[in-house]
Parts: sequence; C-alpha cells; structure tokens
Amino acid sequence: MEVRLQKVIADAGLASRRKAEAMIAQGRVCVNGRIVRELGTRVDPLKDHVKVDGRHLKPVPPQVFLLLNKPKGYLSSLSDPAGRPTISDLLGGVGLRVFPVGRLDFDSEGLMLLTNQGELAQALLHPRYHVPKTYLIKVKGILSDEEITSLERGVVLRDGRTGPAMVKKVRKATENSWLEITIYEGRKHQVKRMLEAVGHPVLKLTRVRFGPLALGDLAPGEYRYLTNREANALRAVLKRVESQAGLASPPSRLTPHASRAALRRGA
Ligand code: URA
Repeated sequence: MEVRLQKVIADAGLASRRKAEAMIAQGRVCVNGRIVRELGTRVDPLKDHVKVDGRHLKPVPPQVFLLLNKPKGYLSSLSDPAGRPTISDLLGGVGLRVFPVGRLDFDSEGLMLLTNQGELAQALLHPRYHVPKTYLIKVKGILSDEEITSLERGVVLRDGRTGPAMVKKVRKATENSWLEITIYEGRKHQVKRMLEAVGHPVLKLTRVRFGPLALGDLAPGEYRYLTNREANALRAVLKRVESQAGLASPPSRLTPHASRAALRRGA
C-alpha cells in the first residue's frame, strides 16, 4: 500500500510530518537511490528503500483499517479447515495481513472491521470497553412492549443475564418484526439467543454499526478502507474509556503474539 513519503518518515519516528516535509524539500531524502523533493510522492514502505541523510529507514507497516460487508454464507474467520468460504475470499487486493475484530455467524451479514493493529482490535473487543454493536434483525412474530422491555433490561441465558440493551422497532409487518438492537457485550450468538429467550427466533441479522463505524450503503461482499476520521474516532473511543477508567492502557501490555491469539479467538 502506498503512502505519502512524509508520513513514512514520521511513522518511523524520525521527525514530525512537518519536519519530514522540510527534509524532503532540502533534498535529504532518497527513494530507491534517487533524491526526491516532491512532497506528494507516495511510496510503499515495505517495498521501496527510503534513506534520510544516507541512512535506511526501518520499514514500519502502515496501519490498515478495513470495513467489510460480510455476506451470508461466509465464515468470519480467515481460513476454514472444512473448506467453506471465508472472508479471506473477499479481501483480494489487501496487501497486508489483517485480522477480523470479532465475529459474525455464517448466516449473519454486515459490518466487520479488519485491521493489522492487533492491540487496538484486542482492546475494542475487551468487555471492559462496552463498544456498542447495533444489529438490524427480522424476527418471527410480533414483539410485545413487555418483551422489548425485558430484552432491554437483560434476559437470562445459559451463560448468565445479559447486560442492558437498546431495542427500537424499525418496521411494521403482519407476521414478523423488524428491530434494531444495540448490545454492549460480545457473547457468542448473543442476539439470536436473546431473541430465542423471549420466544421470537431471528430470521435475518445484519450488523449495521460497530462503535463509531456505520455500514452505510456498502454492498454485501464489498470492503473499503476507513477514512482518517473513522480511524481517529476508533482511537478516540479507546482513549476516552481508558482515561475514564484511569487505566494505563492495559491491552497494550499484550505482546503482538498474545494480541493476535486473542483476535483469533474472537469475541
Ligand atoms: N449475535 C448473533 O446472534 N449472531 C451474530 O452473528 C452476531 C451477534
């Protein structure tokens, strides 16, 4: 993936972006053996050889954040020993190894965040952060107001009572209900089990929001890179919660290996 030369220099910890721009303009930066003075120059930090004042920059992989609309019939993991379709089949063209943040069932669809930032992803999945996830669901039958209230207050599942949730009726139908449910936990099959507990099985489930990210009109099977604003919003979520809790960034104490292992476990 190509990024601006001044960002590569800044990401390597050599200088601020502004100072990196000055270094480029002063002719102190070489790309693949040639002095480069144009500020708009883009390079691939993993392939191109960048030197500043004659010294090679250690390549730092760029941060990658992707938003995928997982269709039904795909596993939300990167591989499957049984050979079923996985989200890897949809990620052609992504040069770096990215990991899914959390999971969606085989028959669920919607927003999946993928990133090479193991620690950030691990933190977003941590129950402590209560990152909201919103699902648009079609369920069998019509829910009464009492049933909606009990979903919002918490229902008892085999792994304990669920935390508070928010439920909104979105569409009227005669035999089924369309709802939006927001939960702040990430237990396996949680939404389906919650609706099962009140006697209304889920017929269709689409994740439409994850923290500050929204699926929007991204078509099923398509992915896009997060905008800088979205990536910053994700980082801000973590900063806010860490400072509220007075935590010294606990997930960053995980080694990259531990972060990746936690990601593979999903949440
Ligand atoms: N809850 C579920 O039951 N299934 C999903 O895929 C996501 C949330």
